[in-house]
Amino acid sequence: MKLFIDSANIGEIREAVSWGIIDGVTTNPSLMAKEKGLAMEKIAKEICKMVKGPVSLEGGAMEHEAMLREGRAFSSLAKNAVFKIPMTIDGVRTVKKLSAEGIKTNVTLVFSANQALLAAKAGATFVSPFIGRLDDIGRSGIDLIREIVLIFRAHDLKTKVLAASIRDTDHVKQSALVGADMATVPFQILRKMFDHELTDKGIAIFQKAWKEKNQ
Ligand code: G3P
Repeated sequence: MKLFIDSANIGEIREAVSWGIIDGVTTNPSLMAKEKGLAMEKIAKEICKMVKGPVSLEGGAMEHEAMLREGRAFSSLAKNAVFKIPMTIDGVRTVKKLSAEGIKTNVTLVFSANQALLAAKAGATFVSPFIGRLDDIGRSGIDLIREIVLIFRAHDLKTKVLAASIRDTDHVKQSALVGADMATVPFQILRKMFDHELTDKGIAIFQKAWKEKNQ
């Protein structure tokens, strides 16, 4: 499973990229809004230079023609830019048109298998089902990922399942277990993936033994 970082923070992305395990980046308007003092386009261009993999950029247009303009503009920022579009009728229409132009798209705010199927039918490069926000309302976000993976595999749909709204390390593991193509993970959760108390205890024991043997 590929790992993307879900962030618009240059410092977080730089640090995570240095670990050698990041395959792409996803942003959204909320994440961009956190980055004060920098224009979105400048942040976007900087992020696209920091990773080779896909970088999802989301605008604010909700009407088809405006979405087309946004998608073409974002796509022109960098070869690895991906236009992130909300799951609406106009969004799906826009995916269909931009896909035909060779522009990569990521359909976001997906909360049902039917929404994911429509996005895939339109030729979306990625769909982003939101695990955490379904869990927040007592539904199972991981079950949605499982359903979408089964449907896409059964019908040989090429759209990639990008597990999003990841709230803890278990969401990452569960997404991998049910076959998501990638998960987009906040920096702090990526960092937590490295940790286990028994690893720390084992390192302390080995370090002590090494020092005793080699002093
Ligand atoms: O990429 C989508 C993700 O950022 C949303 O996460 O925690 O706001 O549901 P969250």
